[in-house]
Order: sequence, then structure tokens, then C-alpha cells
Amino acid sequence: MANKWFETVAVAQRRAEKRLPKSVYGAIIGGAEKGLSLNGNLTSFDQLGLAPHVAGLQAERSMNTSVFGLDISMPVIISPTGVQAVHPEGEVAVARAATNRGIPMGLSSFGSRSMEDVAAVNSQLLFQMYWSGGRDVMVQRLERAKAAGAKGIILTLDWTFSNGRDWGSPWIPEKLDLKTMIKLSPQALSKPKWLFAYLKTGKLPDLSAPNMAHPGQKPPAFFGAYYEWMTMPPPSWEDIAWLRSQWDGPFVVKGVCRVDDAKRVRDLGATGLSVSNHGGNNLDGTPSPIRALPAIAAAVGSEIDVVLDGGIRRGSDVVKAVALGAKAVMIGRAYLWGLAANGQAGVENVLDILHGGIDSCLLGLGKSHISELTPDDVIAPRDFFVTLGDK
Ligand SMILES: Cc1cc2nc3c(=O)[nH]c(=O)nc-3n(C[C@H](O)[C@H](O)[C@H](O)COP(=O)(O)O)c2cc1C
Repeated sequence: MANKWFETVAVAQRRAEKRLPKSVYGAIIGGAEKGLSLNGNLTSFDQLGLAPHVAGLQAERSMNTSVFGLDISMPVIISPTGVQAVHPEGEVAVARAATNRGIPMGLSSFGSRSMEDVAAVNSQLLFQMYWSGGRDVMVQRLERAKAAGAKGIILTLDWTFSNGRDWGSPWIPEKLDLKTMIKLSPQALSKPKWLFAYLKTGKLPDLSAPNMAHPGQKPPAFFGAYYEWMTMPPPSWEDIAWLRSQWDGPFVVKGVCRVDDAKRVRDLGATGLSVSNHGGNNLDGTPSPIRALPAIAAAVGSEIDVVLDGGIRRGSDVVKAVALGAKAVMIGRAYLWGLAANGQAGVENVLDILHGGIDSCLLGLGKSHISELTPDDVIAPRDFFVTLGDK
């Protein structure tokens, strides 16, 4: 049997591309419009260096920490992604891998597996919501998440319904019935390993959104749920404060890139925020989170937990973010590629790559614990950082 282990996230990405039908792979790559933010997220990390020592290094190193009230083995969290049709076990495989490596699982409202199934295998579930469906429906979702055992809520606020991409958007069918499969068959048949993994389970991907179901109703189709969200007027800060008041545990706002918004998130009583541009999937041209992080961490990081997501592909990226003020990072595409390449083991492989990379950096930088990292460990070009909304 071929060795399915991979040594870097880039290798996992190549395997995912080889294994997945073109439209499924295209959906994971994502990136709005011209891909300015998507590319910027990666090139920004490339522009940062590290400042190592050569002696007096630490033989014992650790990276356990706590964030959003959860104890975690390393400063990495699974970011919620609407992962449809990547792997038959989907988020359950990701959640098991996260449990085995001691980290929390963010589950998307648009995930393919239910919060109950995911909570059954990961005791650190963070359920992600959008402002969708009306107040009663959102309260019902919170109640369902509480009953399922979710430890916290991630409210994502940075989606702009941009739907054009210069390199073409993948076609996503309403559902995968026989007729659609025949239409898609050249793509699916050219990826027999992917198809076989589904056929073994006796089912095709059903492209529904079980976490967007209204009580007593069956899960809506992905696009039905998307329409519900799209047609909802965007929330005011008072709306967000109201939603926060409906949940008595950790509450995290995802998608912040400005200092003034970060202060409002703090003021409405959130537990934390993620500096994020949705992995470059929202308003193209929003700054890379790593550039916006230090100003936001300086403004609110002593009062609420500031994390970052966008562009994390290596342990050194995690270290740069933590050194510049993040308590932890969230990862998206990296684990999706691992999932596509080798299911649960592939996600564990990705988490081990990050763990190993963080440990190498701690060694080189002379640290015994992740909390000892400071901005002085990072070399940044002049004018690298951006501060938005701070008068
Ligand atoms: C395919 C895909 C689907 C996503 N779906 C969601 C989602 O449903 N909810 C959400 O809050 N973020 C979603 N995101 C954004 C991720 O949570 C995260 O912000 C982003 O992937 C981080 O960038 P990275 O992929 O470079 O790590 C999605 C990202 C991707 C790539």
C-alpha cells in the first residue's frame, strides 16, 4: 500500500488536488474576486522572518495553553468550514483528529455533519453561526448547540456574498441525485478513489446543511440554507449584543480586521475574536490578518482572547502569530487538504506537522514555552503592519 503520510501541508494540498473532483477541490481553494486577500494571506507570512539563537536553547519545550476557556495542547483550533463532499466522514473525522491531538473543533453552520454527531467525538465543540433565520430561529440553534454539548459559539460576521472569481467558481449542484451524478460523472469517474470512498458508505454526498434545520424539519439543501442567510438583513451592533446575551458561555466574533470593531466586540461582552478575512473568501482587498493583528491585540488582547485565522500552513506561521499577539490560531484549508488526502489520519498528519514546526521554532528561538514568544522574535519589513479604525 502506498505510504499516505505527507511531510508538509503543501504535499497534502497536491494530494487533495489529485484525489478530489475538480469542482470540490475548487470549492476548497476558494478566494473571492481576484484573490488579492487569499494570496496576501500567504505572502504576508512569507515576508516575516524569525530571529534565532544558537546556544542556551531549551531541552524541554511545551506549547499547551488555554483559549476561550478551553485547555488546549497547542495554540491551534479547527476553524469552521462548510466542508461538503470532501470526505464521507467529513467533520466527524476532523473532530476525532482534533480530539486525538487535544484541540477544539469549530463546526460550521454549513457543515455536512450534525453538531450532535460532532459533539459526540469532540468535547471542545465551538459551534459557528451566521446572522441567519431570524431571532427565534437563532435562539433555537443556540439551544440545540447547548443540548448537544457545544462549549462555545463562533459568530462569523465578515461574509459579503461576493460570488465572482477570476479563475471561475466551481459549479455546486443543488443536490447529488442520479441525474446530477451522470452530469458530473466525467469529473467523478476521473477521481475513482474519492468516488469509491463514498460508494463504500452506500451513499453519495447529500449536500445538505443539518445544522441549519428548523426544529422538527429535515435538513435544508445547502442552497436553501444559503438563501435564508442571504435574504436576512445584516445585523447591527445591538443585534450582536442581543445574540451574545442569549448564550451564557464563550462567545467569539470571527472576521474582525479593525481596532474600532474589536473594541465594540469587547464592549458587548464577547469572550474573544478572530482577526480574519475568511481565508480571503469575503471582500477582496481586506488586509491579511497577520498585518492587522498587533494593533488589535494591543487594543483588546489583555481583556479578551484574540486569535487569528488565514494563511496558516506551517508551525512557523503559528509561532509568528503568537509572537505578534495571538493566543492561538485557527486553521482552514490546511486540515481540509489533510482530510481529502487521508481522512482522519490526514488531519492528524496536518496537526502533527504544525506541532513539529512550532516545536522547532521554540527550539531555535530559545523558548521553553509558547507564552515566552514576543514580537522581538519576528523580523518584519518596514510598513508591514496595518492599523485600521484607531483614531
Ligand atoms: C471551503 C471553505 C469553507 C469555509 N466555510 C466557512 C464557514 O462555513 N464558516 C466560517 O466561519 N468560515 C468558513 N470558512 C473560513 C475559515 O473558517 C477560515 O476563516 C479560513 O479558512 C482561514 O484561512 P485558511 O484557509 O488560509 O486557513 C471557510 C473556508 C473555506 C476554505
